[in-house]
Amino acid sequence: MSALPTRIETYAGRPLTPEEIFDITAARENSLSRLLMLYITTGLLFMLLPGTFLGVWNLLAISDHRAADSVAPGWIQAHGHAQIFGWIGSFILGIGFYSIPKLRRMDPFGLSVVWAAWTLWTCGVTLRWLTSAYQRHWRVVLPFSAALELIAFLMFFKTVSGHRPQSSGNNKLEDWVFAVIAGSTGLLVTLLLNLGAAIFLAWGGASPDLPASFDQRFLVLETWGCLVPFVWGFSAKWLPVFLGLRPTHGKMLLIAVALNCVGVVGALGGWLRTPAFALLAGIIVATCALRLFEQPHRAAKVKGVHSSFPIFVRLAYIWAIIAGWLGIWAASATYSSGIWGASRHALTVGFLATMVFGIGQRVLPAFSGMRLLFSTQLMFVAMLLLSLGCLLRVSSEILAYQGLFRSAWSWLPVSAVTEMTAVTIFAVNLLLTFVRQPPSQTMSLGKTMFAGPARED
Ligand code: HEM
Repeated sequence: MSALPTRIETYAGRPLTPEEIFDITAARENSLSRLLMLYITTGLLFMLLPGTFLGVWNLLAISDHRAADSVAPGWIQAHGHAQIFGWIGSFILGIGFYSIPKLRRMDPFGLSVVWAAWTLWTCGVTLRWLTSAYQRHWRVVLPFSAALELIAFLMFFKTVSGHRPQSSGNNKLEDWVFAVIAGSTGLLVTLLLNLGAAIFLAWGGASPDLPASFDQRFLVLETWGCLVPFVWGFSAKWLPVFLGLRPTHGKMLLIAVALNCVGVVGALGGWLRTPAFALLAGIIVATCALRLFEQPHRAAKVKGVHSSFPIFVRLAYIWAIIAGWLGIWAASATYSSGIWGASRHALTVGFLATMVFGIGQRVLPAFSGMRLLFSTQLMFVAMLLLSLGCLLRVSSEILAYQGLFRSAWSWLPVSAVTEMTAVTIFAVNLLLTFVRQPPSQTMSLGKTMFAGPARED
């Protein structure tokens, strides 16, 4: 695979014929699709086993003891790391390697770097999970895992920010790209801080667990500071087409990104209330910029997905606004662990996971060789259960952890099993999509290469 020429017009100094260019491009496209499926399958495995199953285990223990602090911090942090870095991080790298060079009309790059980044990223996240959960040889493994994750990301960043050919036309960056750049910068800062904290703990810490006050700020960085702008960027790129929305207000989106940055930097600095207002303002401005709740311009393109897809995308943004509002409430209350947990869950499950379920099942079948989604019904069931589980979890976490309604402790396991069923169905639907043969390789390659996957249908 890595032996494929990186410039497809010539090979070994001689110009290629149009047929040779087509064959080489087709082979390269196939290889890239297979690599994308590798990243996505890896992300799904992280999501299911070290992520969700450990999260459910933790929640069952919390519900059983009726105390939020009844689970070791290492197990909670291992769950969070598997979900954010193992699942969503692997998806971002895979989709980024596949789509960003196409969207930027870049020169083809050698695929060995995609393999190398996958190996380093997967080893880094796995070692981090093992060392958080089991704490063996952690003084060496913790910084080593953080270094592997950082190097993998740097390889990704160098590749997708690479050179564009002169002939690619207008060099002005579109507004959605700035949101993706903000997300990438957030991910870079997250990984640098992660490495710094790992070295600090390895040098003088008593355990590999991040101290609670640092962990809370770090979570704001990795969610609001990194994943949220990524989702805004790809929303601005794809939702106007998929949902038939009016064109995104680009400048307004940039204001949202700026407000979000203010909130994240403020939270990292240790302030609570003002950054929480900035984060809420950012998500409201981003929702307006995307024009999600305005009368659509055209009918939504729901061919190949369930017709409820536009409703769940809008619901995800409502969850993000709820997360921001809960953040303000938590920052204003004295004892607020349940409200913080509810805010984080509204963001990670309500917003991020719902968007990954929706957009993922919309674009990934096409990106993986123009396949069709295995089942649109399963897509609907997964999204419905995820929303119901999230609603139950967010409400019961506030009621139970805050001591407002004792019976809510017994709703928590129901919410955990509902969400676990949702993520399992989502994973099964995508994995079955990948193992099915694409309808027609030749036709699909032509469409992917020349029309671009984002143009759709
Ligand atoms: C089946 C679904 C899930 C269950 C049962 C679950 C359970 C939990 C539990 C019990 C905690 C401990 C804190 C608390 O009580 O709120 C927690 C924390 C966390 N969860 Fe989840 N979770 C689920 C899904 C997710 C997803 C989809 C994500 C991300 C995409 C996520 C990210 C996190 C993060 C970042 C933390 C904080 C970790 C830390 O304190 O360092 N969770 N989760």
